[in-house]
Amino acid sequence: MPDIRDLVRPGRVHRRLYTDPEIFERELEKIFGRSWIYVGHESQVPEPGDFYATRIGRQPVVMVRHGDGSVRVLHNRCAHRGAQVVGVERGRAEAFVCCYHGWTYETDGRLRSAPLDHGYPPHFDADAVGMAAAARVDAYRGFVFASLAADGPGLAEFLGRMTTSFDDMVDRAPDGAVSVAGGVFKHAYDGNWKLYLENLCDAAHPIFVHRSSIEAARAQDDAAHGDGAGEVAIRQMRQNGAPHEFWMDEVGIWTCPNGHSWLGDYHDDDRLVAARRDPRFAEYVDRLERRHGARRAKEILDVGRWNSNVYPNCSFMSQFRQLRVVHPVAVDRTEVHTFCFRLEGAPEEMFHDTVRFANVVNGTGSPVLTDDLETYGRIGAGLASEGLDWIEIGRGFATDRADGDGGRRGRDSTSEIYIRNMFDAWLELMTAP
Ligand code: FES
Repeated sequence: MPDIRDLVRPGRVHRRLYTDPEIFERELEKIFGRSWIYVGHESQVPEPGDFYATRIGRQPVVMVRHGDGSVRVLHNRCAHRGAQVVGVERGRAEAFVCCYHGWTYETDGRLRSAPLDHGYPPHFDADAVGMAAAARVDAYRGFVFASLAADGPGLAEFLGRMTTSFDDMVDRAPDGAVSVAGGVFKHAYDGNWKLYLENLCDAAHPIFVHRSSIEAARAQDDAAHGDGAGEVAIRQMRQNGAPHEFWMDEVGIWTCPNGHSWLGDYHDDDRLVAARRDPRFAEYVDRLERRHGARRAKEILDVGRWNSNVYPNCSFMSQFRQLRVVHPVAVDRTEVHTFCFRLEGAPEEMFHDTVRFANVVNGTGSPVLTDDLETYGRIGAGLASEGLDWIEIGRGFATDRADGDGGRRGRDSTSEIYIRNMFDAWLELMTAP
């Protein structure tokens, strides 16, 4: 293992960070094993006994609503001989029963009973064994995070100014809450987990990577598609073709400590973005105004953010109510799960709009996502080359500037400042004692 510090330089990183299995294993330990990791949303477990099984890094965990109303995150591992206790992704259980020998656990992880208990050795203490809890669990406005390390900054400190992106998501709901709804899109690619968040705030790629869908959308006649999914698809794909000048002058990229960032919104299409002039959104705007008054409603709707990246495993779009979770599988294999959210108190049409948008951008048949997956695969294949050691992430290096609260921003949205910011966090976590 090389000295990790030698692999990150100003404006470039060594390709081994994306290809070395040893470094990947250390990332699981030092980043996914210590940092705050997004687990799920409280609305996925609304009632006592509701559970949602997922992973932190490669470790199986289960988020569950306990009888006292609190949300717990437990290691999904039996204290007896190690079987995964919860074998389905979601459901409701009065208690968790291991499939192997029937050890049964309360929803806070305590061992309720162990069948055939006719004598264990002196070390065995039934009150001390159970499904172990994650060391720390906390939530911000319903978004649940867990850390497998007992020490470290609290969640609020870790998120810092990124809380404003979660506020942007939740404040858009007339009733002040959002909930996960519908199914989940899952996709995987043959590339490193870091590529995913790197792409989501990359303002320089759409006009190249998505060129074919941009050109196809431009060739369509507006009148031919009317309302609905077809129109959303065409308008979104056309937006991806905004000229470089627009990305440089209008959009913006912001970063925060601990690797987080958000890209400004690049949508100027009144029919695509909720709350602009499209009459389909009039009832939604009306409800928001009735709740908050016209001035506050305008403030809420005027926040223009595209992807908000919460390092290391979460990214969401407040305007279109989607959230993606990154699951590292191997150094060259990554899974991504995409969730849609309902704005509580908004007309059902708003949720239909969310689903239509999800199909265009995040769906497994998406003409946009498939372009990105091709690119991740190409990077995975390209980095197998030993022709060059370094990856250049220096665009905008000389023009980045401070932006308050320890944050920085690029001169314009095409700066790779957000990648450099993630590697600042990466290096700090990877070299922590
Ligand atoms: Fe779970 Fe035996 S491994 S009860």
